[in-house]
Amino acid sequence: MSKVTVVGAGNVGATCANVLAVNEVANEVVLIDIKEGFAEGKAMDIMQTAQLMGFDTVVTGVTNDYSKTAGSDVVIITSGLPRKPGMTREELIGVNAGIVKSVTESILKYSPDAILIIVSNPMDPMAYLTYKTLGLPRNRVIGMGGALDSSRFKYFLSQALGCNANEVEGIVIGGHGDTTMIPLARLATYKGIPVSTLLPKEKLDEVVQSTMVGGATLTKLLGTSAWMAPGAAASSVAESIIKNQGKMIVCAAYLEGEYGMKDITIGVPVILGRNGIERIVELELNEEEKAKLAASEAAVRKTNSVLHDMKLI
Ligand code: LAC
Repeated sequence: MSKVTVVGAGNVGATCANVLAVNEVANEVVLIDIKEGFAEGKAMDIMQTAQLMGFDTVVTGVTNDYSKTAGSDVVIITSGLPRKPGMTREELIGVNAGIVKSVTESILKYSPDAILIIVSNPMDPMAYLTYKTLGLPRNRVIGMGGALDSSRFKYFLSQALGCNANEVEGIVIGGHGDTTMIPLARLATYKGIPVSTLLPKEKLDEVVQSTMVGGATLTKLLGTSAWMAPGAAASSVAESIIKNQGKMIVCAAYLEGEYGMKDITIGVPVILGRNGIERIVELELNEEEKAKLAASEAAVRKTNSVLHDMKLI
């Protein structure tokens, strides 16, 4: 039996619970929210699709009662405000940091062995805050940003190539920010063929640029931040853990010297299995990529410093 809790029944949380159910990632999914009746309603709506979609996962919703989340194997934290058009993810730190801290503490009381997946923005600092405040081993605190950004990168690559997105490979490392993420164009492939040999440089630069502002573009179009791909990305991270798939997915991980960084949580490729982060994969980066990663590191550290100013860590 496996159990996943999703904290926050807003757009991202409810979509994530839906994808978890449709893909039968776990036997049981608990959706929890502070808004009276909201998670219950979302869960009921999802369960009324069970016969239509043919899934057996049981989704339940609860209002603020963390005892119902007890014994979760994986907990996905989506709580907090989404961004509005024109806003950066970093601007959300003042409101979301306090929420994420209290939510993760409540979760740990009832699920002391859970692996935590952080979705709330600004994602890298929120994962860092969770690691620093809960005292869990680093394999159990995972930020999902890179999974989402890599999926967007593959989408834009497939659009440029005019091909099936499932035949494209590409990863995005660094921070989950409009200026901090690093789509690794050099390593992207279509059926094993480097995309750099298939697309002109200007086109590839355009793909990289579209990927970096992928979230902001959707926020502008939708009036609030995206939820389909963020929810599905969080579910894919949970799936590799629950089913011990050992997939390599880019996630924000707490680094202890990897990539020459310490005391920071930032996006790097990791192998995800039953223990959460089973291994951090260190890529050979070229000088240009290293410089971009250093700039991304500096930006993430600057946002992390707000957590110190807020006396949260
Ligand atoms: C995005 C938000 C969820 O990138 O960070 O859409």
